[in-house]
Amino acid sequence: MNDISLNHLLDVAICAAEAAGTHAYENKDRRKETSETFQHDVKLVLDVESQRKAEAIIASEFPTHGILGEEDATPNLSTPYEWVIDPIDGTMNFSHGFEYWCSSVAVRQNQKVIAGCVFAPDFNAYYTAHIEQEAKLNGSPIRVADTASLQNAMVVTGLSKEMEGSREPHLEMFRMLALNTKKVRINGAAALDLCRVADGTCDGFFETGIYLWDYAAAGLIAEQAGAVMATYPRKCDLHGATVLCSNEHLIEGLRAVYTKCI
Ligand code: IPD
Ligand code: CA
Repeated sequence: MNDISLNHLLDVAICAAEAAGTHAYENKDRRKETSETFQHDVKLVLDVESQRKAEAIIASEFPTHGILGEEDATPNLSTPYEWVIDPIDGTMNFSHGFEYWCSSVAVRQNQKVIAGCVFAPDFNAYYTAHIEQEAKLNGSPIRVADTASLQNAMVVTGLSKEMEGSREPHLEMFRMLALNTKKVRINGAAALDLCRVADGTCDGFFETGIYLWDYAAAGLIAEQAGAVMATYPRKCDLHGATVLCSNEHLIEGLRAVYTKCI
């Protein structure tokens, strides 16, 4: 099977992320249409509808490729290509009318992420990268910050939907980093957080219990902008992982904090 060009795959990722994000954005007035609620999460009718919009773009170009979406999966073992979709990352924000949310589409070949786009409609921001191209924001190259110490860093994190109570390592990491960095921030959309590390707005990111669709596209974008990702999958769950991300100066410090907290 011939390889598909990275530019072609990225173009389709951009169109798919745009289709999902635009659908949600244009239907904001339906943001309270809920299909399920949980202690720390909500599922919207628009989550599923928006994923369908992304899937339709991908299927029209690559009908045999596999899909791994937050809302639904259609694996296909006969192809090495798989699309990883989060139609609305930051659903809780979106449902409250808080603009910090995005749509994320990545494509993997033999399980390696090779191209991806994160689209944040309220900011008209398209973050893109493929493995042979620098990360870009709306077509212009972006780069991680050069902050040299955790003491001077602004680090962003999120609260997983599966917090396990007071023994959750994330809470201890939060405490340690709050005491040992300049600031810790919680914005509510992991994919966009990683893109804000990529564009140098934030210095680092950490979260436990996040899923591949939260970080597939944005992790590649961050790496192609000069970031280092450290990913620790959970033993019992292929998708739930701890993800650390920062420039090369800060990553060992983040790893050291994580190691103390598990
Ligand atoms: C969530 C957001 C949030 C993060 C959670 C994710 P969703 O994704 O990225 O920032 O803290 O861990 O699950 O559910 O809105 O797609
Ligand atoms: Ca989501």
